[in-house]
Amino acid sequence: MTSMKTFYLTTPIYYPNARPHVGSAYTTIVCDVLARYKRMCGYDVAFLTGTDEHGEKLERAAAAAGQTPGQFVAEKRKLFIQLWEKLGIPVSVYPEGKPDSLRFIYTTHPDHDRSVQRLLIRARERGFVDKRRYEGRYCVSDERYISEGTDPVNCDICGRPAELISEENYFFKLSAFQDRLLEHYEKHPEFVQPDYRRNEVKSFVKSGLRDISVSRKRLKWGIPWPDDPEQVFYVWYDALTSYMTGIGYAQGENGNEEFRKYWRNKPGESELVHMLGKDILRFHAVYWPAFIMAAYPDQPEMLPTTVFAHGWIYYEQDKMSKSKGNVVYPEPIVEAFDSFGAPGNDALRYYLLREAPFGQDTSFSYEGLIQRYNSDLANGLGNLASRTINMLNQFCAGAVPEPDAQSKGPADWNARMTIQACRAAYDNFAFSSALTAAWTYVSDANKLIVEAKPWELAKSASTNDQERLRGTLYTVAQVLRTLCVVLHPIMPATVERLWKQLGEQGDIPFIEDSSGNPAAQLIAPGTQVGRPEPIFPRLDKAKTLAKLDELAEIDRERGKPAVRALREAPLQTPLQAPVQLDLAESGSEPDKSKEAFIAVPTENKLEAVATPTPASQAPGPQPPAPSPQPPALISIEEFAKVDMRVGEVKAAEHVPGASKLLKLMVDIGTEVRQVVAGLAEYYPPENLIGMKVVVVTNLQPRKLRGVDSNGMIIAASEGEHGRPVLVTFKEDVANGAKLK
Ligand code: MSP
Repeated sequence: MTSMKTFYLTTPIYYPNARPHVGSAYTTIVCDVLARYKRMCGYDVAFLTGTDEHGEKLERAAAAAGQTPGQFVAEKRKLFIQLWEKLGIPVSVYPEGKPDSLRFIYTTHPDHDRSVQRLLIRARERGFVDKRRYEGRYCVSDERYISEGTDPVNCDICGRPAELISEENYFFKLSAFQDRLLEHYEKHPEFVQPDYRRNEVKSFVKSGLRDISVSRKRLKWGIPWPDDPEQVFYVWYDALTSYMTGIGYAQGENGNEEFRKYWRNKPGESELVHMLGKDILRFHAVYWPAFIMAAYPDQPEMLPTTVFAHGWIYYEQDKMSKSKGNVVYPEPIVEAFDSFGAPGNDALRYYLLREAPFGQDTSFSYEGLIQRYNSDLANGLGNLASRTINMLNQFCAGAVPEPDAQSKGPADWNARMTIQACRAAYDNFAFSSALTAAWTYVSDANKLIVEAKPWELAKSASTNDQERLRGTLYTVAQVLRTLCVVLHPIMPATVERLWKQLGEQGDIPFIEDSSGNPAAQLIAPGTQVGRPEPIFPRLDKAKTLAKLDELAEIDRERGKPAVRALREAPLQTPLQAPVQLDLAESGSEPDKSKEAFIAVPTENKLEAVATPTPASQAPGPQPPAPSPQPPALISIEEFAKVDMRVGEVKAAEHVPGASKLLKLMVDIGTEVRQVVAGLAEYYPPENLIGMKVVVVTNLQPRKLRGVDSNGMIIAASEGEHGRPVLVTFKEDVANGAKLK
């Protein structure tokens, strides 16, 4: 018996400092499509994702949330697992690794320590790791390494001067791999894809590689360095090795049987593909192969087959990103579509893959999603499916007719050609081309129906017309069956419904068997079709947009228990008003429609305050009223975590290009802080100079429109449009005085 070809596919492992958004879900969705496709081609597939849980950022986020790093990452990890499951991708968490599921590794699993140390020790034994003096800037206040060298002098987060430090660290001799890497790119053009990215990588390597420090002394939240308890591994060495841990590298002498089966790059037998965003290509295409070459010299089968860098999802002209505040989450999209009987999950998958050639950046918009859904899915494929099944029921007693040779030949040939075109596209990661080929087929079939007019042929007694009727209906039934096969990886749930309506029994077959032979893909005359049920009901744009907004709002509420707890507590503070806090560090978004807000976080959050749309006023169907919850109380200790100080505005000016934002310099007693606040529509900057305000001083810094903001200013939110009214003092009060 010949063993099956294997295919090991990974997404990047995500930082769990915030919940995943559409941008982060993109890679996982694309990989799920690819994994399903490869399974249909008879491959034995292992598919991995996970969370990257070490590092200073997470340590700081945990501290800000009042949790240990371990508690914090364990909680956040769940949000990723839940999302993948909701998107129809069943997950099995390491060490479990169910064959048809998405395997999930998290880097704080103790096995991962062993993996990382194992890979490192092999590289060290071969002379590629040594201890040297590291010189660079370190920000004591943020406990962060800023640079490897003397510049820049100031911390890019808090702006304070960073200390020049010098400490012993372990270095990886990346420079030793410059020629070997270049040779590898030359010999294996498939290694970095798309090819325009390969050129970027090549020129980066040609410009000269410097050795890199792979450990740190001052950090605690990391994997211990073997034989040196003072040091921990520094981020990327740890993160990249998770691809090995996820399939068993930590087990056995040198990985377990599963590891040996999947971690093997052998053309025609076994492939190993990493899919990632273009921002992290360098780590995957330069560092990672060098780390592997150092540990396994002369074992080219240990190197990944392909590292594919895709583009970014943009939203509102910018990369969708939590730190920029322009994020869209998948859950409300799925729920909004589902509420109208439209398959939300499949619609989102289709849209993300169809919109732009894979590899390039693409823009996301709710309008675009609805537009694509209506034109391609409802009017295109959905219409073809319902017409075809209706006509088969009406004119052929519900059975696929026996066609004459004149129709059968071309229909079957077209089916084979479409499968071939789509296969070639999938094999080249060209998902949008696969969809273009499929939709040419959809529109040809719709055109055939319009031209042949089966409803007229059915009325005719002529043998020719009856033959043509049978030929036409056989052809379109064949088209639908073929579409089920080629679209199954992209829209699995809907295609399975259509498959049943077509009267097909059992699972959708392989495209080819494990020896590479194309499977028979023709519809059998006589197949009894089912009842036509709309698979893609048309959506009303205005109602769907309203529903999307409404559910996105409810979703934001759901995603921030900490915020709710604080908001609902009857605060015994001099402010005498409920305060809503933006706990950016916990990945939560501020709430739009509340009485008080802090006039800072991001521009779109502020817009939300300015134009509140309470759920009760939203057009379209209303969600069930939430059942009243008893107010969540917080302890005085919890409240005390928020550091609020009196500040005096020393300078104020508009943020260029942001109509609502002002940049303020605020004296908080110990220092002058730069804070960006959404006040520009209501306060001329000059009126603020000298004003005493309340500043939340211990929030994580943020960049708003590229400007650093180190704190928040408290204001009440008044009236329907949420006009900010700054909190100030009637009596004289010193800058820096604490509010409690
Ligand atoms: N933890 C590292 C990866 C380590 S892999 C060994 C990391 N994590 S991340 O959470 O910041 O990003 C994970 C992936 O999500 C990256 O590939 C990144 O490109 C992708 N995306 C995050 N935002 C995105 C968009 N808006 N659009 C498309 N992909 C985006 O980097």
